[in-house]
Amino acid sequence: MPVISAPHAFNEGQLYVDLKPIFGRSLFLKCEGFNFAGSVKLKAAVEMVEAAEREGVIKPDSILVESSSGNLGVALSMIAASKGYRFLCVTDSRCNLSTRLLMEALGSRVHTIAELDANGGFLGARINYVRTLCDSDDRYVWLSQYTNPGNWKAHYYKTAPEIARHFPRLDVLFVGVGTTGTLMGCARYFRQWQRPVRIVAVDSAGSVIFGGEPGRRMIPGLGMSMRPPLLDESYVDEVIRVEERDTIRACHRLARRGFLFGGSTGTVVSGAMRWLADHHRRELTAVAIAPDLGERYLDTIYQSNWLQDIYGEDVLDSVDMPDGSWAAGPRAHAPREPPTAPPANRRRRR
Ligand SMILES: Cc1ncc(COP(=O)(O)O)c(C=O)c1O
Repeated sequence: MPVISAPHAFNEGQLYVDLKPIFGRSLFLKCEGFNFAGSVKLKAAVEMVEAAEREGVIKPDSILVESSSGNLGVALSMIAASKGYRFLCVTDSRCNLSTRLLMEALGSRVHTIAELDANGGFLGARINYVRTLCDSDDRYVWLSQYTNPGNWKAHYYKTAPEIARHFPRLDVLFVGVGTTGTLMGCARYFRQWQRPVRIVAVDSAGSVIFGGEPGRRMIPGLGMSMRPPLLDESYVDEVIRVEERDTIRACHRLARRGFLFGGSTGTVVSGAMRWLADHHRRELTAVAIAPDLGERYLDTIYQSNWLQDIYGEDVLDSVDMPDGSWAAGPRAHAPREPPTAPPANRRRRR
């Protein structure tokens, strides 16, 4: 029976969902949403704060500051509340409302950037805001998840060994990418492991993490509008890009079987199922990482008006196809034009 006195002392690391009954192909989904911060970002937050404490960077009057699309902000809010630090999260208008409210409920300040930057995203504007703040007042301590090695080390020391312990015959690991902290930590660990593991990065279409043209992205968590400084592509065997319509379908297919996951899980599952369908020569031991749960997405991914406004009336049409014939990927549908008149509740990409 775990008994804790600090919220970050609990993090369920041993829960997997077998997706075979739902998708017709074996894939073990590692659930990272069962902790008090509700996401995989708790691990990176703990590692980065504890490193800053060890290095003496955090003083009694310090104010932690971080740019986050939401989940890291919640994790840092929780840790800051527990340890008595002040925390300011710089986010953007694509951040879910419930995530913003959650940070405020935990006592953090939230600054929301609403203007797109020169790259047509929000990330540059968020980072500029943090830099200006740090230049103007030396009480601010920027943990910088985009460059902080603690971000990937958290997964090298925790996430990857948790997987290795339960899957000694692991063949392939699917990891969604944002800062690439999860990917790089796991990829570095399995590069040194006792057997070769194929590392497949799953990105959202419109993200420029692995190059390509930027495009509209409405679902927070995965993807970036710049190349992540932590990324070392020599550790990545393959990259899959997933259209947001396929992310939505995978999320709803899981939800119809009672599993309410966040958007990035839908992306990873969709990409992984497509990859497994193309590599079905033998039964592979495959694991994918589910970064968070679905409650923070009730007013977006799980709200029919939002879905229809952005992706069109037919976005959920193929969700109920029989198991096994479920086809994730661009082949399954023709691309749609975005709606001409933006609805009032529409979010903007960063
Ligand atoms: C829901 C969700 N999925 C995936 C990711 C990507 O993780 P990473 O930043 O380690 O690449 C994040 C990062 O914030 C996230 O919040």
